[in-house]
Amino acid sequence: MVDVILGLQWGDEGKGKIVDFFAKDYDLVARFQGGPNAGHTLYVNDKKVVLHQIPSGVFHEGIINLIGNGVVLDPVTLKRECDTVASFGIDLRKNLFIAERTHLILPTHRALDKAAELSKGQQKIGSTLKGIGPAYMDKTGRNGLRVGDLLDKNFTTSYIKLRLKHQRLLDNYNFQEDISQWEEEFFEAVEFLKQLNIVNGEYFINSNLKAGKKILAEGAQGSMLDIDFGTFPFVTSSNTISAGVCSGLGIAPGHIRDVIGVTKAYCTRVGGGPFPTELENETGEELRKIGNEFGATTGRPRRCGWIDLVALNFACMINGVTKLVMTKADVLDAFKELQLCTDYKINGKQTREIPFQMERQKPEPVYKQFAGWNTATDAAKTYAKLPATMKEYVNFINSYLGVNIQYISNGPGRDQLVKVG
Ligand code: GDP
Ligand code: IMO
Ligand code: MG
Repeated sequence: MVDVILGLQWGDEGKGKIVDFFAKDYDLVARFQGGPNAGHTLYVNDKKVVLHQIPSGVFHEGIINLIGNGVVLDPVTLKRECDTVASFGIDLRKNLFIAERTHLILPTHRALDKAAELSKGQQKIGSTLKGIGPAYMDKTGRNGLRVGDLLDKNFTTSYIKLRLKHQRLLDNYNFQEDISQWEEEFFEAVEFLKQLNIVNGEYFINSNLKAGKKILAEGAQGSMLDIDFGTFPFVTSSNTISAGVCSGLGIAPGHIRDVIGVTKAYCTRVGGGPFPTELENETGEELRKIGNEFGATTGRPRRCGWIDLVALNFACMINGVTKLVMTKADVLDAFKELQLCTDYKINGKQTREIPFQMERQKPEPVYKQFAGWNTATDAAKTYAKLPATMKEYVNFINSYLGVNIQYISNGPGRDQLVKVG
């Protein structure tokens, strides 16, 4: 049986914290897409840790963590992260497994990401510059190198061949930076990676399923950043939605039980692209300040706005969401009034559908106003202790989406999660 936890907005919904919380109920936690563009924040013994490549189940004794074939892996980030995790006394030789079909991010992928972004000028995606797009391009372009290739004696030759190809592209971009330092780090990290458990991911996970193990698939990014269904071209390069679980791990759809969608009580986005409910004013500033909305991977300030139910409804539909978790409810504590976007107005016409080209069609949000609870909620341990106005807010979202919020997160801490009901 496989349950999925994924983000329903533009990323940073708090997936890491939620996966860490639920991980204890599972035998195996697996990442199925994305790469070091992800930044998942957890608190372990009150210490903040940001994971980019390693699944968020890693801090639980006895749980297996798998980096699936759908992920793109940067050995340098992985090595750095393994060092951090090891400093907590976690033995990664025992609990981290990497699928051999996982594609590698090479130093030249990072350079190409940077060069491509620079060439876009005003139209840039706002990529994290971790090499994600170029690595996935080499995957679909059938050029990429995979983790399994590292064990081949001809790896260096294949690497040099691909590097040459990349160099020609970089020359076209007139990219002049010296990346020899990155390459040095890369080859050092590759040696480290070769010491880890490299497995045939699809047999590994299916034998675990056969043995009755419970698996949790951890999404990265968010549904609105999905390569097919997000706000293209301002998206990432993988399928972030539940469909990505099957191709990103090698499991059949029938194994999936719950799809747990995570949403903030408001909304954020980092990088370029449309964001209908964005607040480019004092309220937006306040959300950023109270919510500490700065990117976990790049440190960039996140754009902030009200919750967008049109986009959330779309995300629930595409993912087949069966349960909801609402995070950062405490961030709204200070607000006297709250707004929920229930409809878009496009060319004077009201709709509840996501348009083909949000950037061009510029939907105007139509809001329903709510009274804020205007009281501190971060200490609440039970649903009964939460204010009635917050419950109204939650109930409205439930009935709009036709899926229920089952947990409310009211702080970044591991224990700040209230079960509804
Ligand atoms: P992810 O990428 O979805 O895992 O989310 P990030 O870790 O990038 O961003 C979520 C941020 O919000 C992190 O700094 C978390 O520590 C923090 N966070 C998570 N849940 C809550 C919550 O309920 N309340 C508050 N105030 N912070 C939270
Ligand atoms: P987590 O897993 C928020 C955004 C980038 C950019 C676009 C493309 O922490 O939620 P990419 O580096 O993939 O080429 O960038 O996607 N982005 C994220 N935004 N959270 C993330 O991950 C993100 N990963 C990528 O800011 O707009
Ligand atoms: Mg994040």
